[in-house]
Amino acid sequence: MALAKFGALPKGGVNRQALSNEEIQARAEIVHWGRSIGLEASSDVAANLFLRYKGVDSNLAPILIGSHIDTQPTGGKFDGAFGVLAALETVEAIISSGMRPLRSIEVVAWMNEEGSRFAPGMMGSGIYSGARKLEDILRIRDKAEVSVETELKKVLSAEPLLPQRPLAQKPAGFIEAHIEQGPILQDERKTIGIVSGIQGKRTFRVQVDGEENHAGTSPRRARRDALVSAVSIISALQEAIWDREDIVRFTVGMLTVSPNAPSVVPARVIFSTDLRHPDAERLRVLGDQIVPICKQAALNCDVTVTELLHDPPLEFPQALRRHLRSIATALEIPHMEISSGAGHDARYLHYVCPTAMIFIPCKDGISHNEAESAAPDDVAAGTRVLAEAAFSIANTE
Ligand code: GLV
Ligand code: MN
Ligand code: MN
Repeated sequence: MALAKFGALPKGGVNRQALSNEEIQARAEIVHWGRSIGLEASSDVAANLFLRYKGVDSNLAPILIGSHIDTQPTGGKFDGAFGVLAALETVEAIISSGMRPLRSIEVVAWMNEEGSRFAPGMMGSGIYSGARKLEDILRIRDKAEVSVETELKKVLSAEPLLPQRPLAQKPAGFIEAHIEQGPILQDERKTIGIVSGIQGKRTFRVQVDGEENHAGTSPRRARRDALVSAVSIISALQEAIWDREDIVRFTVGMLTVSPNAPSVVPARVIFSTDLRHPDAERLRVLGDQIVPICKQAALNCDVTVTELLHDPPLEFPQALRRHLRSIATALEIPHMEISSGAGHDARYLHYVCPTAMIFIPCKDGISHNEAESAAPDDVAAGTRVLAEAAFSIANTE
């Protein structure tokens, strides 16, 4: 609740987008909380934020726990923030128990998980894990044409007392606690979801170019209306991608029209497509239809399609899932295996170290919405599982 004050919205949600002033303030508060319990704060070139609790042998690779604190423009209080604060509380609990683990434990808040201001998301974890290159993300711009490079400089220069750490530090493991963002745990009356894997995702940016003209005088033959073309493309995509089983997830969530004036024929439309599927081959085939459909349905406008991301589905390692299951069983917390429909920073960490995720229910499965909510008992239960897991892994040689 304290973190949700940074970027608070009138209906109870949060607008704290990546590298914004609200996020700078939230980072300062988290650093303050971490330092007040003796953690060493640092950041890297991608503005990932770390709070380190030094282990007995600080030469051993640390275990990382955390998530992200950036939000969607009409986000909730829990998506990301829960995982970071559960991680902080995990370390706080270990410190107050008087124990020091063998390996260091680092609380992490990855930069720009959401990807709503700067797309695609999971930028910080992508850079950290080597899946993406720094120079590629620096050029990316938001709707106001402000670049990641400019905003990264702003964030890092607002934190002159935060030591910079090198990127290449292979961790011993990563565990991310997160709200489920769907209704399954609530429906099944389970408190913990042990995440089996993450479905695949492809995102595209589509630019449709027509020509400005007078809305009152231009006959049909003189119109190259980019919005009419975009509507034609979007309905063709919806039709082609629709599946009877309702497994495909396909969303056009962003659409900008220029010049966006009531009496001017639209000259340019830019829209996003977000396509997800748990099967790699199906995702490939569906995604490969996007460019030809855009070209076929563009009417008399020009269309340019850019693929921003193609992440295949993945499965987290069985050994860690078994470990989480045994912890939940020992704590007598009802649990089940669950697959993640949403994307997470754990995706990129998975390729560099043993990685796992812990889900807790969120009210009615609602997320990416100001109404997002989670029950205090569930938040506590998820944090207990995280704490047991982090402490035990930090004590393995
Ligand atoms: C993450 O927020 C996602 O869109 O999956
Ligand atoms: Mn999230
Ligand atoms: Mn999210």
